Amino acid sequence: MGLLLLLTSTLLSSYFHPWRVVDAQALFTIKGITLSIEPSDDVIRDTSVILKCQAVVSSSGQEPLSRHYTIYKDGEEVYTKTSSTSEDLLYRLPEARVSNTGKYKCQITIEDKKMISDFKRLTVTGLSVPEVHLNKGVVSEGEEVTARCMAPGETGSIIFYFYEDSKEILEKKVNSNQTEVKLRFNSVGIHKVHCAYTVLVMPDSFKSKDSNTLTISVKEYPITLVLEISPTYKIYEGDRLDISCTIINSQHSSQSIQLFLSQGTQLLRSESTKTKVSHNMTALAKNSGEFECRLVMGNVVKVATKTISVTELFSVPILTMSPAEVFQKEYMTLTCKIESFASEKLRREELIYSLDPSENALSQNNGEFSGWALQYDLNYTCIARAKGIVKHSNTLTVRPKVPVSNPKISVVDKVVLKQPFKILCKSDNGSLPINYTLLKDKSQLSTISVKLPIQKALFTVTVTHTDEISKYTCEAKNSHKKSLVSEKLNATVIVPVSRPTLTVIPPLPEISEGDHLYLICGTQGTPPVTFKWYRVGNKQPLFTTTSNNNHTNYQVSGLTKQHSGTYYCEAVNHANKAFSSEFVDIEVNLATWKKALIGGFCLLVVSVLVVVLVLCFRSKRVRVDKAVTSVWSERPPEEAANDEETSMVSNEPDVEYTEVVHPRAADSAKVPLRKGTDTVYSELQNAPHGAADHHDYGSVEYAELNGEQPEINHCSPEVNNYQDLPVPVD
Ligand SMILES: *[C@@H]1O[C@H](CO)[C@@H](O)[C@H](O)[C@H]1NC(C)=O
Ligand SMILES: *[C@@H]1O[C@H](CO)[C@@H](O)[C@H](O)[C@H]1NC(C)=O
Repeated sequence: MGLLLLLTSTLLSSYFHPWRVVDAQALFTIKGITLSIEPSDDVIRDTSVILKCQAVVSSSGQEPLSRHYTIYKDGEEVYTKTSSTSEDLLYRLPEARVSNTGKYKCQITIEDKKMISDFKRLTVTGLSVPEVHLNKGVVSEGEEVTARCMAPGETGSIIFYFYEDSKEILEKKVNSNQTEVKLRFNSVGIHKVHCAYTVLVMPDSFKSKDSNTLTISVKEYPITLVLEISPTYKIYEGDRLDISCTIINSQHSSQSIQLFLSQGTQLLRSESTKTKVSHNMTALAKNSGEFECRLVMGNVVKVATKTISVTELFSVPILTMSPAEVFQKEYMTLTCKIESFASEKLRREELIYSLDPSENALSQNNGEFSGWALQYDLNYTCIARAKGIVKHSNTLTVRPKVPVSNPKISVVDKVVLKQPFKILCKSDNGSLPINYTLLKDKSQLSTISVKLPIQKALFTVTVTHTDEISKYTCEAKNSHKKSLVSEKLNATVIVPVSRPTLTVIPPLPEISEGDHLYLICGTQGTPPVTFKWYRVGNKQPLFTTTSNNNHTNYQVSGLTKQHSGTYYCEAVNHANKAFSSEFVDIEVNLATWKKALIGGFCLLVVSVLVVVLVLCFRSKRVRVDKAVTSVWSERPPEEAANDEETSMVSNEPDVEYTEVVHPRAADSAKVPLRKGTDTVYSELQNAPHGAADHHDYGSVEYAELNGEQPEINHCSPEVNNYQDLPVPVD
């Protein structure tokens, strides 16, 4: 039985216990929470305000839930309470203050569940009137007063302000509704004091009204300062100044006393523990102005001032130069001048002048220094002295100028006829600015003023004749003096090359194999000239040479048929414009001995024919026709041999044979016989002597050479002479 009871109770406890846990945890829920402010969100100071936090919680359990409330103001916790009832939470502000202004929220926490309300803003207006209190009503200079400002009933963070005669003089921040400060008044008389405060409610602040106003009487400290300066009447530069400052009617005070004597920012003298300070000095013009004596005794400061005026004995000297512009080693005068002086104190003769630097041997006469200008720049100052007063003038920089040297005229680059070029005019020495003028035959063309060392006087001109260049001169001038003239311009005028002519020697139709050929290229233009010979079809020149003459030749020895072709030459000089000649066709003829061989053979054939014909006519007149036929058909043995030679010649591809007709006595005489056999060459017949044939030789000039020199060997020395012909332009 006991065993049964135990079993039952174990079963029951295991059955009910989990039920109870589930019940307590799950059977409540926070449905909502609201915050309200009574009587209103907007109240005036001293109102009793209640913040009410109302939470709606549903639960089924019998046991009361533990509710934890928190009130937040501007995010900070201001109140908490735990209750086990379902009553609303009340947060009371019995006397609302401006510092209570802010945003409030309420939060409820039950076990692990929380809920927070929306915020409500409470605004409290109205601040208490501040009150000011002073510990004394009468003080003497430098004495302190304790002032207290109160903000009755206010709470929170407060800044207090203190005012002296409506001007803010002090502020202090405290977390209390009252504060104390020490005030000191610097001037003698009645002062009014009040205060005010500001309550800080972040992010705002609220300012109170002004407090009551209290008056305080500040009495003068019984001490007097006397500042004396002598002489008391008109003070001149150089006078001795005596300055003294004395304390009178001093009640013997235990406080330490300090006296300061100053002018502007310069402290002249100071004394401590004495009742007098004095200073003496020589009066200078710069001492015109206010002197100050200052007494410092604890917090008490007393000041006495006096203004003086110092009359100049003489004015600051002014140094000038004449002439205003001086050249090296020229005469100049430096004048040191005093504009005004106190004639009642000083005679002009008492003024003594000197020059700094003094070692340059300028003779002086009453402030005028004369002499020869140096060769370098110098800064001069003059000094005037009288009655112990020394005055320095302005600094005068004397820069003796360098006279311009003879200008030199030159050309900048090459001079090409009829093309613009630049002329440079330059003097090696001379102070700037220098004016350069270009002249042609004494007439001025233009002027350039050179002001900087990097500038150059460059003139652009063009010449149309080679001798025109020497008409140019230039002038340089940098002073009132006469300008200097350069020499005449000396420069070579380059005449550009003209179209060159290509001359062929031996003359064209007479060029034969084995001949020595001269191709002479000539032009007009200033040497040196660079010549190039070309054969049409070749890009590269056959030959290039630069000659100091304006003609030269290119030679080919041992001509062959391969040298036949079209040739031309090109000429260029420093004017840089190249010109080409016209084309010249060169045909190399068969060698003379070959022509002679052919001619001889033909003559032989003709003579044989003649002999045969004569014989036939004489013997048998009847059988004339047959006989002629037999002569043509039967060949004599020596003629057959000649025939072989003819066929051999015919094998040469370039040689062209035509019919053997019109043999001319004159031409035959000119062809020298090289071999026993005469050969007649077709071109020889067709080309009339010395005349241009189908070739377009144009300006090729070879006629004179042809006529005089039939033989090449005789011609060669003449060619060399030709090169030495006078140059047309130089
Ligand atoms: C003169 O004085 C000027 C300015 O003070 C200075 O720059 C210059 O170097 C001086 N010249 C000479 C020659 O001392
Ligand atoms: C011109 O200059 C050349 C070379 O510079 C010189 O040989 C010639 O003598 C000069 N002529 C004159 C007239 O000065």
